[in-house]
Amino acid sequence: MSSTPTTLTLNDGTTVPAIGFGTYPLKGEDGIEAMVGALENGYRHLDTAVNYENETEVGEALRRSGIPREEVVVATKIPGRFHELDLALQSLRDSAARLGLEQLDLALIHWPNPSRDLYPQAWQALVQAQQEGLVRSIGVSNFTEAHLARIIDESGVTPAVNQVELHPYFPQEQMRTVHAELGILTQAWSPMGKRNAPFAEPPVADAAATHGVTPGQVILRWHLQLGAMPLPKSATASRQRDNLDVFGFELTDDEVAAITALGRPDGRLFDGDPDTHEEM
Ligand SMILES: NC(=O)c1ccc[n+]([C@@H]2O[C@H](COP(=O)([O-])OP(=O)(O)OC[C@H]3O[C@@H](n4cnc5c(N)ncnc54)[C@H](OP(=O)(O)O)[C@@H]3O)[C@@H](O)[C@H]2O)c1
Repeated sequence: MSSTPTTLTLNDGTTVPAIGFGTYPLKGEDGIEAMVGALENGYRHLDTAVNYENETEVGEALRRSGIPREEVVVATKIPGRFHELDLALQSLRDSAARLGLEQLDLALIHWPNPSRDLYPQAWQALVQAQQEGLVRSIGVSNFTEAHLARIIDESGVTPAVNQVELHPYFPQEQMRTVHAELGILTQAWSPMGKRNAPFAEPPVADAAATHGVTPGQVILRWHLQLGAMPLPKSATASRQRDNLDVFGFELTDDEVAAITALGRPDGRLFDGDPDTHEEM
């Protein structure tokens, strides 16, 4: 058994599970059932967003699972259209109402949308919401080093989390270094590489054969050994279980390096460059 921790401590002293569950695009009754299944299979961190339009379903799944509220970390995100201070605060209150929660465990700014130049206001709203107790932990998503520097400089508050695209074709070496220096947890979206998952790539397939696990488990294990928190989505019960069962083996440093070497400059899944991507 490896010594990789099953929980991670954020820079505000709170803890989160080492692996979370991505909830996009789970919606409706099927979505609720998939999320109840995920909770029954052991997930204790649900990643949603206003723009996933499934916060009601996430809240319903949490209640239906019967798992005590305090055992599950629920994370949501403020969309680009609500970056003004008052709108961002209202967005958080509306998310809490849809989720049926008094407090959001983690709230992020979904994208910086630098063309609007309003993300510092959204960050101020998160700082205020944390002081008021509406949100426990605050962070960002898809922020570059420059976006991080600006909000930290203007507010004096460092985000607990930056959730970024991270998978073997886009290993985010520079952002992971920045996060380590600032004490920010790297969360990985599309951790498998979604439709472009590198399951057949030799470094992944070979490690799977060596350790007697699936390629998906190798990729999630790679995330953990990089110090990142992956947020895999699966509507399939067996995959949900496999994706949590990654604490019983350890990749060698060479295996980790070979998977990281799959990275390439054009490895993003879509043109999601935070300096130019607009998502409202
Ligand atoms: N902050 C952001 O801007 C942002 C952007 C994108 C995503 N996200 C978050 O990140 C989460 C995950 O991202 P994602 O859904 O794009 O990508 P992903 O988790 O990398 O991939 C999900 C896909 O992989 C399949 N899969 C999962 N586990 C597998 C396994 N062990 N073996 C084979 N296939 C497997 C799933 O299929 P089945 O469901 O059919 O099993 C699904 O089609 C989202 O749900 C969302 O919460 C955030």
